[in-house]
Amino acid sequence: MNNRAVVLSIGNLNLDIYIKTDGIPRPDESIDAYETYMGGGGSAANFSVAIARLGLGSRFLGSVGNDQFGEMLIREMESEGVDTRFIKRVSHERTGTVIVIVGLDGSKRMIRYTGANLGLTPDDVTKDVIDGVSHVHIALGRTEIIEVAKRIAKSMGLMVSVDGGTPLARKGLDIVKDVVDGVDIWFMNSFEARELGHSENFVRAAENIVSRVRVKELVVTLGARGALLFRDGEVKYSDAFRVSPVDTTGAGDAFAAAYVTATILDLDPIDKLVFANAAASLKVTRRGARSSPKIGEVIDFLESLGYAKLAREVLGRLK
Ligand code: RIB
Repeated sequence: MNNRAVVLSIGNLNLDIYIKTDGIPRPDESIDAYETYMGGGGSAANFSVAIARLGLGSRFLGSVGNDQFGEMLIREMESEGVDTRFIKRVSHERTGTVIVIVGLDGSKRMIRYTGANLGLTPDDVTKDVIDGVSHVHIALGRTEIIEVAKRIAKSMGLMVSVDGGTPLARKGLDIVKDVVDGVDIWFMNSFEARELGHSENFVRAAENIVSRVRVKELVVTLGARGALLFRDGEVKYSDAFRVSPVDTTGAGDAFAAAYVTATILDLDPIDKLVFANAAASLKVTRRGARSSPKIGEVIDFLESLGYAKLAREVLGRLK
């Protein structure tokens, strides 16, 4: 039954342009790059592609410019099996573009031109877009869109996850707590947890957040250190797998997609974290935000590391 589940992701679709280098030039200075590449990006769009690769139905709602990059990005998502029917094209703005500066250790710094992504409005989030979906993932920081999507999805009895990133965290908990009130899963990284929870210690920060917000699960991703889950007054932790990072762009999106998949498959909390860590660990060994693994790759990876039981369980539930 679960392989028929469709996940809708709402948010940005960008063209990502990557430059691998070991420094940042000062004014009037130039430095060499080791490598350059480009491809589809945008947290919500990356999530949609990752969901399709994990074997679930995938639908995306976002907005691009009426330009060649917008068309190219839509075709790329279609080729991954994502339902792109609801993507909006606006003529007053260029397709969103992000320059990603990738360090030799795989770390990333991003310079974002939001552009046509702002063409998405709360009016675009309709019952038609959500119809036939089991889970709605909202990966942007615009509170007016999160609120509408959450309200409609909840009125239809669906699961909702939010990954608002730094733009949402910067709004502060007093505003954000009402926006995410009642969602099933709230994803954030340790930087965002510290920002929202007002503590340099991310565990204490996350505890401050869950004491003030009504969400079923708060998931804090810690990069190479794994991830934490706060649920029902308990904290669960799963370490990341040891890999050699090439490019960490999109690792959080691959993690969130695998975590949502594992939630739909009704895995145990720790298994959800392990499965999501496996997907994110594979992603960081590859270039670009759209290099999340296919389900068979995650299964092989888990089996090779002694998680054969979990691998069998995932495969059994996906049937
Ligand atoms: O989460 C990674 C994404 O953030 C990149 O693909 C980039 O487009 C930015 O939106």
